[in-house]
Amino acid sequence: MSSSVPSPAQPTALYGGTSGRRVTVRDIAAAKERHEKWPMLTAYDALTARVFDEAGIPVLLVGDSAAMVVYGYDSTIPVTVDDLIPLTAAVVRGSKRAMVVADLPFGSYQTGVADALRTATRFLKETGAHAVKLEGGRRVLPQAEAMVAAGIPVMGHLGLTPQSVNAFGGYRVQGRGQDGDELMADAKALEAAGAFSVVLECVPEDLAARVTASLSIPTIGIGGGGHTDAQVLVWQDMAGLTPHTAKFVKKFADMNTLLGEAARTFADEVVGGVFPAPEHTYH
Ligand code: KIV
Repeated sequence: MSSSVPSPAQPTALYGGTSGRRVTVRDIAAAKERHEKWPMLTAYDALTARVFDEAGIPVLLVGDSAAMVVYGYDSTIPVTVDDLIPLTAAVVRGSKRAMVVADLPFGSYQTGVADALRTATRFLKETGAHAVKLEGGRRVLPQAEAMVAAGIPVMGHLGLTPQSVNAFGGYRVQGRGQDGDELMADAKALEAAGAFSVVLECVPEDLAARVTASLSIPTIGIGGGGHTDAQVLVWQDMAGLTPHTAKFVKKFADMNTLLGEAARTFADEVVGGVFPAPEHTYH
């Protein structure tokens, strides 16, 4: 009897690859072996997910930063699983190739292994997300291990973990001095727990470089300098929509001005009777 089991999909370049299928954890592991750098962006809706997917961004994160950039809160603390589920589902529906990572919001996994499993399971079943992200190192290791054991790809997040902003006393660089050793130990623990990647946020460049060299899984920097395997930015920061951003953000476009001009031109044309023109009108 001949086997009908398909051969596993071959790994492909993460940025610019044209495999015609979703990026997987195997592709991400292979990119680390090839020392290939790759980009990740946040996304929160179907249309921007489509734009970033078609631009070749291999991993889209539905971050709990939605609390601020979608829901208008001043931290990530208030956003809930129920707030993020529809956004994550929209990003999955809007993309064809990117791996979609769902961020587990504050309070949905710190409370224990059972809660972490329940939340991650909801994201995978109800949204189609392919992986989850959680903040913290050794303190959330049982949760990370349990999710990995359940077949859920886990992305870690160390350094400035915004859900701990109250404990940090503000948004500050993390991992300086002795704290760097703690962060290194957390990163190694996450790797041993089976995490497939780890975000390093707002840490000194030399620490991010050492962690990157010490791990066999990719590091994804945001304010960690240029030596991490990947880089992530919140898309509204990257595209210049957010009015005030951190030092580590580069604005690759000026969406604030662009959208403001479009809105003013629309308004002027409505007030002036120029829009709608005959070509926008049914007869
Ligand atoms: O929520 C988020 O957008 C994030 C990224 C900034 C890494 O966690």
